[in-house]
Amino acid sequence: MSKRLYIKTYGCQMNVYDSDRMADLLAPLGYGVADSPQGADMVVLNTCHIREKAAEKVYSELGRLRRLKAAREANGSKMVIAVAGCVAQAEGEEILRRAPQVDMVFGPQSYHRLPELVAKTLRGVGGIVETEFPVESKFDHLPEESIPRGTAAYLSIQEGCDKFCTFCVVPYTRGAEFSRPVADIVAEAERLVAGGALEITLLGQNVNAFHGEGPDGESWGLGRLIRRLAEIRDLERLRYTTSHPRDMDDDLIAAHAETGKLMPYLHLPIQSGSDRILAAMNRRHSADDYRKIVERLRRAVPEIALSSDFIVGFPGETDTDFAKTLRLVTEIGYAQAYSFKYSPRPGTPAASEELQVPEDVKSERLETLQNLLNAQQESFNHSFLGRDLPVLFEGKGRKPGQIVGRSPYMQAVHVEVPEVARERLIGQILQVRVTGAFANSLAGEIGTIDIDSPPSEVPSCQADEYGIGGVTG
Ligand code: 5AD
Ligand code: SF4
Repeated sequence: MSKRLYIKTYGCQMNVYDSDRMADLLAPLGYGVADSPQGADMVVLNTCHIREKAAEKVYSELGRLRRLKAAREANGSKMVIAVAGCVAQAEGEEILRRAPQVDMVFGPQSYHRLPELVAKTLRGVGGIVETEFPVESKFDHLPEESIPRGTAAYLSIQEGCDKFCTFCVVPYTRGAEFSRPVADIVAEAERLVAGGALEITLLGQNVNAFHGEGPDGESWGLGRLIRRLAEIRDLERLRYTTSHPRDMDDDLIAAHAETGKLMPYLHLPIQSGSDRILAAMNRRHSADDYRKIVERLRRAVPEIALSSDFIVGFPGETDTDFAKTLRLVTEIGYAQAYSFKYSPRPGTPAASEELQVPEDVKSERLETLQNLLNAQQESFNHSFLGRDLPVLFEGKGRKPGQIVGRSPYMQAVHVEVPEVARERLIGQILQVRVTGAFANSLAGEIGTIDIDSPPSEVPSCQADEYGIGGVTG
């Protein structure tokens, strides 16, 4: 690789997936991934527009890049600057007007044309904007070759959204819902597994609305797709995100019960516990509908851990509405969750509502909700003390000798191991005895580690040969 490519990714896992695909597309052109913009031949900002100040953050990053680009040009070198993702889609030409140092702007549906856009830029064509939703699917134009990316991989199976929640920009930036054909997804999953992935997370803005064409010509739902992917021999774990309560159908819930490889963890956003607010958000379900779905899920998989997204201070939200959110959280009991202050997104219906909630009220409600959610997460983590959990180790921890992985319930688990064994243990699923539980992570111990040879089976958790444990995450 003779050229350096720096990609800065903002926002969700779909952007992480897209950034990886951009790197794959540019690899044949000689671009290797770099971990800083210093000295980069090309910089891509893969942006997110979901909440506050997204565009402003991008403009200030572009200010920093302008100076780097000028310094490189003074040395006779080039730096191509691209803005991709949802801010690019939403702002389009405006980016070139405010930041003329940018060479190209393209939305999430156009990045498969990156090699062609780079070639044009290098020929001197400046100021390219590609924000149409093309008729062709970008997935048909992505390379089959990919740079190996470790043991836990993402796979986009669905994109876009037709739900039009009144607070959300996604239907405008990512466009109409689209599901990839099953055969393409299976082929990509097989490639990922052949490249060393033990876990695959299926991605989509509305992933459980998946309705891809099956090899039999029928439309397959997510449950059926998951059963098919679970047949891939060396694939150990499957997850999917993000789901909408309306699309949690019986077959998908049955797949949770039947498919051991499908992890007992589900991110199922509700946003609010008040029916009045849910209706104003155009969520098309009530709080009780959600409670019933959770009941069905727990009947199918009693230990399933739940996560959610919440918005506080949606226009018109009263203290009574907010109290209903707190009640719902108390009833459901979350393993973890994300919560946000409502942020008016230009062009979405809720942004022009008159009854905007004052900032100080939003802040107060967010703090109350987060205190409750944090307490639930901590008590969930504490319930694992002394128990054994299979952990997929994905990388090194921050401390020397530490490795970090994920439990089936998405908890980060830290373990200290001898330095010589670190590299070998990463990329394996090992049984861990939980010895420490914290707000955001667990700590644990692996049993006997044979330093010289790969373990022939999952090590037992009984021995404490190395006195490992008690590490905060
Ligand atoms: N304001 C605040 N939060 C939002 N989200 C989406 N749009 C907004 C907005 N305008 C949150 C929702 C969604 C998550 C990805 O981001 O909770 O589920
Ligand atoms: Fe946005 Fe999700 Fe609602 Fe679609 S379902 S509009 S992605 S919040």
